[in-house]
Amino acid sequence: MANSSRAPGRSRRLRAALVVSAAVGLLATAGAVVLPGSASAASTLGASAAESGRYFGTAVAVSRLNDSAYTTILNREFNQVTAENEMKIDALQPNQGQFNYGNADRLVQHARSQGMLVRGHTLAWHSQQPGWMQNMSGTTLRNAMLNHVTQVATHFRGQIEWWDVVNEAFADGGSGARRDSNLQRTGNDWIEAAFRAARQADPNADLCYNDYNIDNWNDAKTQAVYRMVQDFKSRGVPIDCVGLQSHFTGGSNYPSNYRTTLSSFAALGVDVHITELDIRNAPSDAYRNVVNDCLAVARCKGITVWGIRDSDSWRSSENPLLFNGSGQKKPAYDAVLTALNNGTPPTGNPTTPPPTGNPTTPPPSGGCTATVTPGQVWGDRYNTSVTVSGASTWSVVVAITPPQRISTTWSGSPTWDSSGNVMTMRSNGSGNTFGFTTMMNGNSSARPQIRSCTAG
Ligand code: G3I
Repeated sequence: MANSSRAPGRSRRLRAALVVSAAVGLLATAGAVVLPGSASAASTLGASAAESGRYFGTAVAVSRLNDSAYTTILNREFNQVTAENEMKIDALQPNQGQFNYGNADRLVQHARSQGMLVRGHTLAWHSQQPGWMQNMSGTTLRNAMLNHVTQVATHFRGQIEWWDVVNEAFADGGSGARRDSNLQRTGNDWIEAAFRAARQADPNADLCYNDYNIDNWNDAKTQAVYRMVQDFKSRGVPIDCVGLQSHFTGGSNYPSNYRTTLSSFAALGVDVHITELDIRNAPSDAYRNVVNDCLAVARCKGITVWGIRDSDSWRSSENPLLFNGSGQKKPAYDAVLTALNNGTPPTGNPTTPPPTGNPTTPPPSGGCTATVTPGQVWGDRYNTSVTVSGASTWSVVVAITPPQRISTTWSGSPTWDSSGNVMTMRSNGSGNTFGFTTMMNGNSSARPQIRSCTAG
């Protein structure tokens, strides 16, 4: 079933759900106060993320819902949940044909009662298979996997916003190959078969591929997943999103090109999600960077941290989360909330006409011409669009004046120099006009300069 057969309007519903959720959070905590035209001042993660149409979520262990300290933070701060273990294959189908939905249903009920969105994790995975499935192979396994996908997605139909349809199917290291597993050995098409079955069972859920170590744009694993998504999109395999787990923990660090990775996947026409974020020792800078990178990419729909308190973490000795074991906010919490609040797109009325800066058009020496059209202006930021003529594939170099900073781009694939002040925007098949938002950061007069336009 192709994407075009899906029920319309999911994005609007997501946005509406988040607005309602933010309002619920605001009433519940009296914490989020947003005055028209003022800077955002939401005081919880979920409420702040919702102001830009995003979510801020957490993995939840259902057994901890009995811990009132835990649920107090959960209900106050988060507007999205992922079951840490309760929707895995071994949890839901411990014996073949016998489905055990009790714990997962409890989490879904809790989420619904709190206005939280639910990410389903995960329908098909080489790990956490029940014993009966581990012992299968070939057509028998393929059919059992597809039946699991169909049964589970049908059971939760209408309650799951996003499914991690397939989890961790690529190998680590430099090979760019699929991970060897019993599922992979059923044939290379097992992933697309799982996506097709999921779409058929729940046409309204967004279907994601989810993996770890696909954060660094230069890694072979990242490139391999990118090529798979590109291939799926070109052949009409129903994929809507990519989840970057982002466990920056124990040897895998936040990469400086993370934003390029997010925007490059997004340029393929899928949403991107940060699905399992945790960072060893919870450095504020790295958490802040992750948030800013997500906010800079329009198709980055939200961030899920992999647990609430350090004591809840699968790697509790590394203290990688936003709350300490006593449930107190850590410095990284403040960094995340501040970044969410600072990065929230304007809610006031955009003003036109556009600024009277000095947009420039370079000579067509590189085989194309880039023409700047100033766009909307707000109190703290402004938009610019650039139209390229003379070439169908191109790269345009744009320089901005610090402390101004480009925060969002669209309709192109950007890369950045080390200063962050020079962006090279490459065509990505979405037309000859790209755009970007620039934060003024105290300088309201400077405007971006086009340095070159190069065909090819
Ligand atoms: O609940 C049982 C308990 O009854 C038993 O006594 C105990 C001893 O074996 O095991 C307990 O279950 C453990 C479960 O976590 C709950 O704590 C499992 O053994 C253990 O394997 C499981 O680990 C989970 C791991 O995935 C494997 O599924 C972690 O909690 C969970 O955080 C982790 O999450 C994964 C994501 O799904 C995918 N991405 C990576 C991420 C981190 O590994």
